Amino acid sequence: MERTFSIIKPNAVADNNIGNVIARFEKEGLRIAALKLTHLSKEKAEGFYIEHKERPFFGSLVGFMTEGPVVLMVLEGENAVEKNRKIMGATNPAQAEEGTLRKLYAKSIEANAVHGSDSLASAEREINYFFDKNEVKARF
Ligand code: TYD
Ligand code: MG
Repeated sequence: MERTFSIIKPNAVADNNIGNVIARFEKEGLRIAALKLTHLSKEKAEGFYIEHKERPFFGSLVGFMTEGPVVLMVLEGENAVEKNRKIMGATNPAQAEEGTLRKLYAKSIEANAVHGSDSLASAEREINYFFDKNEVKARF
């Protein structure tokens, strides 16, 4: 059993794809252990993407992530980190495989529909960044 962290980004929320994304996770055997819909502040989004703060796309990315509500989730399952990355597809939707969430729901490399932790260490940091321990409920 593993935990990962997922965000349904503002473009996918605006396009009414919350249900489609969640249905896909459940169908693939990932269970929701925590979930909230919120609107990120600039400070919260900057802190989340701190590893990218020197990249040229950072300012624009933070602007996009704060333009509307997002859904924050903890997903549980076997091999959850890697499984989620596979379901999401490549960062750039132009390179994402058919049927992946980014192929289906992304608008651009920036508005790419979903976030997923890239490692167990990132997952732990990201979960703790957004959720209190008592908000995360074991599902397995
Ligand atoms: P990154 O961690 O490289 O991708 P991933 O989300 O697949 O782990 O980048 C974080 C986010 O930054 C990415 O989801 C979208 C945005 N981004 C851009 O806007 N332009 C870019 O050129 C890259 C690489 C990322
Ligand atoms: Mg990343």
